[in-house]
Amino acid sequence: MKNELVDRYGRKLDYLRLSVTDRCNFRCYYCMPEEGIDFVQRKDLLTYEELDYLTGIFVNLGVEKIRITGGEPFVRKGIMDFLSTLTRHRTLKEITLTSNGSISEKQIQELHRLGIHKINISLDALDKQRFFEITRRDKFDEVFACILNLLKLGFEVKLNCVVDGNKNIADIIPFVKLTAHYPLSVRFLEEMPFNGTGKFEVPEWNHLALYDYISSHFTAIQKVQDGKNSTSVNYQIPGYQGTFGIIPAFSRTFCGTCNRIRLSATGELRTCLYGPAVTNLRDVLRSGANEASIKTEIRDAVAKKEKDGFDAEELNAKTPKKSMSFLGG
Ligand code: GTP
Ligand code: 5AD
Ligand code: SF4
Repeated sequence: MKNELVDRYGRKLDYLRLSVTDRCNFRCYYCMPEEGIDFVQRKDLLTYEELDYLTGIFVNLGVEKIRITGGEPFVRKGIMDFLSTLTRHRTLKEITLTSNGSISEKQIQELHRLGIHKINISLDALDKQRFFEITRRDKFDEVFACILNLLKLGFEVKLNCVVDGNKNIADIIPFVKLTAHYPLSVRFLEEMPFNGTGKFEVPEWNHLALYDYISSHFTAIQKVQDGKNSTSVNYQIPGYQGTFGIIPAFSRTFCGTCNRIRLSATGELRTCLYGPAVTNLRDVLRSGANEASIKTEIRDAVAKKEKDGFDAEELNAKTPKKSMSFLGG
């Protein structure tokens, strides 16, 4: 059998999103309430040794790119050592991270030394007060300094901005204009129904509305080429250093080229963000399963990958209400 994971629609899954914690130092309103969610207990988390062992198995099955997600990955103790361990998987072409920007200057230098050069930062506002209203934390200056530090060291930085009609429309154009001066990729995300409460609403600011709004503010917008498995449809204002993109995260126009598989911090394996956990690899591993049976478990899950997951109403009805900080985005 070939060492690759291919589903019944011919999609090769070579991108693993690995969540290392469900905890976060921010409290974005669309993700969790001020009091937090029912966070996972330590004993239920995959240890770094287990995460590394499972990563080895995925790499063996053809995974070439790993994105470390959370919650916020940098709130888990020992994350830098874990990242250093991951770099030992020789056939892994890319290790990347999604963070809320809570990365110290020292950690940024260390990431660079480890050969990690691409980072996505969640940032929903350029206005300090709106940033505070969204995240419930007064940390805008620190997050922005983190972004500048990353750029200074030559990281490829993407900003993820979740758009909400009531919160941050006034930030959209300033975000696009930011790309005039910085080689950033700013990506506007449709809001998804993963806020831990099960609230489900079709976003008014969907990808079409977003494009219309942005294009009404600029005389010229150029299409730029999207990566092979890109979630974002990307554009550039002529003459600007950076680009901007729109991620139809709710509308999901990109499922046909989906190459992602997800492992939660508790071992839940998902073949789609909009789907239930297919199995729990922590339980499989802790029951004493050997490498061959874990591989079979993963292959079986991939064989059942849905074309484009549940729609949001189905998701609401059929699966427990999960926060994005648990799912890992
Ligand atoms: P790149 O690897 O840089 O292309 O980033 P990415 O888009 O894969 O990762 P990131 O963590 O920055 O995710 C940004 C957002 O893209 C997520 O929060 C989701 O909104 C969306 N996204 C990523 N993967 C999926 C997916 O499989 N399904 C859906 N519906 N949205 C996704
Ligand atoms: N809808 C859309 N995006 C979300 N994110 C977190 N919760 C949601 C949601 N409900 C984004 C974060 C981060 C990425 C992994 O997911 O902003 O950038
Ligand atoms: Fe934390 Fe990200 Fe959730 Fe915000 S969206 S509370 S930064 S995990």
